[in-house]
Amino acid sequence: MEQTQAKRIVLGITGGIAAYKAAELARLLIKQGVEVQVAMTGAAGHFITATTMQALSGKPVLMNQWDDSSNGMAHINLSRAADAIVIAPATADFIAKLAHGLADDLLSALCLARNCPLLVAPAMNRQMWENAATQRNIAQLIADGVTILGPASGAQACGEEGMGRMVEAEELAAEIVAFLQSNKSLNGGSLSLALSPGERGQIQRMDGVKILITAGPTYEAIDAVRGITNRSSGKMGYAVAQAALELGAEVTLISGPTALNKPHGARGVDVTSAAEMFAAVKQQVAACDIFIGVAAVADYRVAQTSEQKIKRGDSNMTLELAPNPDILAYVASLKNPPFCVGFAAESENLREHAKAKRKAKKIPLLAANLAQQAIGADDNELILFDDAGEHVLPRSDKLSQARELLQHLAQLYRQGNKR
Ligand code: CTP
Repeated sequence: MEQTQAKRIVLGITGGIAAYKAAELARLLIKQGVEVQVAMTGAAGHFITATTMQALSGKPVLMNQWDDSSNGMAHINLSRAADAIVIAPATADFIAKLAHGLADDLLSALCLARNCPLLVAPAMNRQMWENAATQRNIAQLIADGVTILGPASGAQACGEEGMGRMVEAEELAAEIVAFLQSNKSLNGGSLSLALSPGERGQIQRMDGVKILITAGPTYEAIDAVRGITNRSSGKMGYAVAQAALELGAEVTLISGPTALNKPHGARGVDVTSAAEMFAAVKQQVAACDIFIGVAAVADYRVAQTSEQKIKRGDSNMTLELAPNPDILAYVASLKNPPFCVGFAAESENLREHAKAKRKAKKIPLLAANLAQQAIGADDNELILFDDAGEHVLPRSDKLSQARELLQHLAQLYRQGNKR
């Protein structure tokens, strides 16, 4: 299976209060294997220091067109080495400059001279965002093939409330990484992206394939305030959803309670208990081509829940548990089942249990890991089991694992390896 190559971006920071979020954005991108070269305008330096950005990115920050070491050609050279330029935050003033092709400082010259995609995350006061001039400029940028990320709505530094906040760093990082992995613009525009022609040939796309994913834990109520759940964070299921979106799939993500934001572009259905998850799956399954059960569904629920809070007593208390339906096995046994993928979290004898589980649930592909290593962790070690045998994926972060899994799945799905 092919590993995607490291991507390089130029992160341009302009002078707005949201510039402090650029530090976290750089950190998150680097964590996901993206090389970040920071370029700042003079105004950005009033909000965040070049020292901070240099320490985070591990590279000197470029601020001035006239003091670089590349014979005054930084504005040309930088974009040649980059897969994309990301301006975050982009002030109203900088957006106006981009829309009109001004090039009176290093960052704007760099954007004008670029030969790679440009992504812009606006950040400004609500009135500035709503102003007809800004809206005209944004429309112009979109028409020019620029991808606009956000802005978001909410409380603003000026005390007002409304559209104009920069999208949070975590969400921006996810969208940028998705953009770098995909070969189309997030706005559905016509930008060609960042993958070299070689890479484009190697990646198996899943454009238009409908994928239904369950993720996270379920919560089985005992009474009004207590319940039984497990330590699943939902990270793996959400990573699988993001990896599928990157390949162009249409994703529905049915999720138990997690603290995560749904990946951009996924249709989300929130549920609490296994029974609710089962009902949601039954409702959606007919429309899907592929079903991936990543959720850590509680195997049992409390037989008799109490609507009121149960009072403490002095004697032992016994909870009677009733088995929950096996959602994955149900889907796999449908008359015309989608292509089914299961996950297995095992605490011992991983290979034996995983093989037995794949057989028992009658599914073509099962991804197994050791529960004690995977639950809540940021990285993971997966072994894929299918008709051809087993495939060990080297330990890496969950998104990389999810991408590898999706490539394997795309291949099997394409071969019509259904049962
Ligand atoms: N699964 C499901 N519904 C359940 C239990 C599990 O859809 N009620 C799915 C999970 O989403 C996962 C796979 O089945 O894809 C295996 O889950 P796991 O909990 O490892 O297996 P169990 O069948 O519950 O077996 P056990 O807990 O005994 O290991």
